[in-house]
Amino acid sequence: MSNTNPTAGPIASLAASVPVVSGRDLQRFYSVKRGPFKPAATVRALNGVTFELHSGRTLAVVGESGCGKSTLARLVTMIEDPSGGELLIDGKPARVGDRSLRSLVQIVFQNPYGSLNPRQKVGTLLEEPLKINTSDDAATRRAKVEDMMRKVGLRPEHYDRYPHMFSGGQRQRIAIARALMLRPKVLVLDEPVSALDLSIQAQVLNLLMDLQKEMGLAYLFISHGLSVVRHIADDVMVMYLGRPVETGSAEAVFAAPQHPYTAALLSATPIANPEGERRRIELKGELPSPLNPPSGCPFNPRCWKATDRCREIMPALAGTADHHFACYHPLGDVPPSPPEGSSTAS
Ligand SMILES: Nc1ncnc2c1ncn2[C@@H]1O[C@H](COP(=O)(O)OP(=O)(O)OP(=O)(O)O)[C@@H](O)[C@H]1O
Ligand SMILES: [Mg+2]
Repeated sequence: MSNTNPTAGPIASLAASVPVVSGRDLQRFYSVKRGPFKPAATVRALNGVTFELHSGRTLAVVGESGCGKSTLARLVTMIEDPSGGELLIDGKPARVGDRSLRSLVQIVFQNPYGSLNPRQKVGTLLEEPLKINTSDDAATRRAKVEDMMRKVGLRPEHYDRYPHMFSGGQRQRIAIARALMLRPKVLVLDEPVSALDLSIQAQVLNLLMDLQKEMGLAYLFISHGLSVVRHIADDVMVMYLGRPVETGSAEAVFAAPQHPYTAALLSATPIANPEGERRRIELKGELPSPLNPPSGCPFNPRCWKATDRCREIMPALAGTADHHFACYHPLGDVPPSPPEGSSTAS
């Protein structure tokens, strides 16, 4: 396995174009109290994340609850500063409070109920970013809002309705429209379809893909699982306990996952399999506490391939140009053999 520079990011073919967002060795630590007589402890919510995000492309960030996905979202949207590393947006260092970069990145959350003021009509909700950030007159604002409503599949008569009068999918369309009003270059999508029914999920994902094509948007798409991102992702970063364990083009990662954790996530993905049968790898044990991470590879206590080396020394990200993984025992080209006690799923 040739070792290439892991800081190069997963998108080697686009190396010539300037990324709209890039993170290098990003860290975000939190100090937490553990009790009245105990010293504060440090949660390493993000610990060495390197990535590039390019216009018109989608980077999916995937991993279990607590692996640091929303923390990364808070850094990229400049809600919080990193504790270490470098974050560039449009080629410039990003810092909380930087108003010039702020409008370039917008976020859509999982639950649009929380982010849409229930007392404001849709038209008012969508107009608000223009009112605050532009000198557009009322007629221009109205025209821009109606144009955006059309783009996201809302009808003109929806202008005077309140968020509670809409279905979950429609509400997510409103949240997407609001995020796009200032014409950002980047959308951070934090589990944007997780709360929706499967059929509605597909509609919203299709809408996002259409909008990306039309507006040249870059998406940082956060998801618990791999199934949701299969069609939308160009690149994938699988995270575990604040660290990327596998990054690469979606094609490479889906075709031949190399890290056992990625293989386990993928095996839980409900997809039609040409061979008609698929091995389900059931992960044993809980995600360890980020307050007390295991030594060596963070995944070793749950990994069926772990050896002494895995328990002692953290593996670095290495691999080929469009595929990196942090594992001493990558799975190679063969389908992963499941651990003992796992079941076979069809
Ligand atoms: N402000 C904070 N103070 C202390 N710890 C925090 C803070 N924010 C996040 N954490 C911790 O950092 C880790 C990563 O949290 P984060 O919210 O980024 O996870 P996530 O991957 O988005 O999880 P989920 O899928 O549940 O949304 C968790 O262990 C969390 O408890
Ligand atoms: Mg989260």
